[in-house]
Amino acid sequence: MTVSYDSLLPCQSLRVAIMGAGNVGRTLAQRIIEKNLANVVLLDVIEGLPQGVALDLMEAQGLEQHNCEVMGTTDYQETAGADIVVITAGRARTPGISRDDLLAINAKIVSEVAEKAFKHSPNAIFIVITNPLDVMTYLTQKVTGLPPQRVMGMAGVLDSSRLQTFLAMELGVSTANVTAMVLGGHGDLMVPLPAYCTVNGIPITQLLDSKTIDRLLERTRNGGAEVVKLLKTGGAYYAPASSACIMIETILKNQSRLLPTAAYLQGEYGLNDIYIGVPCVLACGGVKEILEVKLTSQEQEALKISAASVRNNVNLALKSLEKN
Ligand code: 2OP
Repeated sequence: MTVSYDSLLPCQSLRVAIMGAGNVGRTLAQRIIEKNLANVVLLDVIEGLPQGVALDLMEAQGLEQHNCEVMGTTDYQETAGADIVVITAGRARTPGISRDDLLAINAKIVSEVAEKAFKHSPNAIFIVITNPLDVMTYLTQKVTGLPPQRVMGMAGVLDSSRLQTFLAMELGVSTANVTAMVLGGHGDLMVPLPAYCTVNGIPITQLLDSKTIDRLLERTRNGGAEVVKLLKTGGAYYAPASSACIMIETILKNQSRLLPTAAYLQGEYGLNDIYIGVPCVLACGGVKEILEVKLTSQEQEALKISAASVRNNVNLALKSLEKN
């Protein structure tokens, strides 16, 4: 019996390679296959870890009613031909460690992983999750030499989802009714945009006083650290995995969704040669469009300060790579 390709379920013709089988990588693998989006190859350097996670996930295939396959490997060759490569490899945060503290260690790891992954999947779109996110995304684009629209970072969707949740909790409404937008670097200097946060189209400024809004914005800035402090052994992974999965779904299904994404700026928002969180339309080619939305003078200034911090860390990362 010949199977015509158009009869194949989407997942059976698409492949996502996830570099890193830690909590984020394995949870993302689970999200992807259980949404029937694509087959997954999960790579890690620890022999047995990706294979064990993959086998465990596959053993739920019948129960979870999907048709996607996940395999684990330590061999980059087996990740070849991926449509999307996700980089989660690197040290995760622990209490007292900021995202920026991971700079030198993860700059080395991410550069090596990106180079090896690109060698086997030169036509892939790369989504970076490793922190410090904006810097690691910049390094990935430089190492692969891919057109910038094919390399992006996952952070804005996560930060915006946190703000969306905090707003819904505060207002006692469904998160499905709340939209939120957070731009800038993925760190303490992120730039939440209250004017673009609504409940079913109603601006939150009509529903909450400025003191409450500021408190929720601050909680969003500390969203990652709050989870790290509670877990004590590492960082968040359920919401990061869901955030990356939404980006992957948008790309694989060519949905042209507007999602805050760490993208390469070439003059947008007055910024050049930098990756930072901005509103993007994502589609099958990666970043289809970067939208320049109106910012207050304070927000524009905050974005500039955030960008300066990212640029400083990029320079530190490049220096640390030269030394190694
Ligand atoms: C976070 O904010 C992992 O950076 C990610 O939780």
